[in-house]
Amino acid sequence: MKLSENTSISALTTMRLGGNARYTVDIETLADLTEAYEFARAKNLPTYILGGGSNVVGTDADFNGLVMLNRLTGIEVISEQSDEITLCVGSGEDLDTLVDYAVQRGWCGIEALAAIPGTVGGAIMQNAGAYGQEIAQVLLGVDVYDTAFAKFVHLPTADLKLCYRSSIFNSMEAGSAKGRYFITAATLRLHKCEIQGNLYGSLQAHLSEQGITDRQPQTICDAVNTIRALKLPDSRTTASSGSFFKNITVDESQVESLRQRYPGIPIYMIGNCWEVASGWLVEQAGLKGQLLNGMRVSEKAALILINESARNYDDLAAAREAIVAAVKEQFGFTLEQEPEEL
Ligand code: EPU
Repeated sequence: MKLSENTSISALTTMRLGGNARYTVDIETLADLTEAYEFARAKNLPTYILGGGSNVVGTDADFNGLVMLNRLTGIEVISEQSDEITLCVGSGEDLDTLVDYAVQRGWCGIEALAAIPGTVGGAIMQNAGAYGQEIAQVLLGVDVYDTAFAKFVHLPTADLKLCYRSSIFNSMEAGSAKGRYFITAATLRLHKCEIQGNLYGSLQAHLSEQGITDRQPQTICDAVNTIRALKLPDSRTTASSGSFFKNITVDESQVESLRQRYPGIPIYMIGNCWEVASGWLVEQAGLKGQLLNGMRVSEKAALILINESARNYDDLAAAREAIVAAVKEQFGFTLEQEPEEL
């Protein structure tokens, strides 16, 4: 077990904020995992699982516990039929590496998830989605370590309560299990046919502009990479956590009156929820491109906060409160932060 002491959380997370973690450990094998939990139990320490750190914001307080760095990698074909393929993927595998692997083989189902930073486990925990696809659509189940019974079990997707950016792994709702499980691997079902149905608006618009009609996974993946490169900051050079706020989910009964009240408001059906695009709300509130306490509301996509010169978490919190208050005042909606906090 590779254990380190007093590691900077800022260095482990893409927003680049945060205090120190008392201990960190690299989880490269299932034996590392059980050993790490035993270590934490013996010392009575809380644990926290970190993948790519792309959807976790460090607070200024030190974490007096054990951060488990998920490095369980590997992609294995379990079965292949004429029209579909089943894969088992280590939860610490980089999601974009998995997308490339599938796309290169012409397998369909995750090509629109290209260039999302983070690991497969992180993507499942928050049911990552983009451009009309979400991980829930291809996930058959997960292998987990259940800390309540100290054993490895399999959970089918039906038990995970996957909905918009939420699952039993990150929700505080009754029946959820935040902190109970360590996802070790995912079973995914991909298809050999092309993406079906209407495409996500901006994806279709991009393809139409380029005169592209084919829907091969590689074509869709290339288009998504191009769109994301134009809108989303490059995580290698820019400190951010992707979308900082969730979109607002509304009931179907509210949709018509919102459209009448705010002409042009983007409201879409995503999965099985109606969503108002929070980026539009932030832009309409006049905040796009603004620098608030060292946090920049991205000029390209107002849902993204970039840490340009925030001194600490308090600066980020002040920027967040200013944005939440402005949107609340103008539209009555309360924006919710997407990244978790450590
Ligand atoms: N919009 C604006 N102004 C902005 C940004 C967006 O008016 O500054 C409008 C757009 O014109 C469009 C609508 O809002 O009508 C939606 O915008 P976009 O398609 O760019 O997506 P988004 O709602 O900003 C969501 C996800 C992204 C995902 C994209 C594409 C959330 C919180 N964000 O963003 O996910 O890549 O859709 O599917 O659900 C992430 O979660 O980190 C993330 C990047």
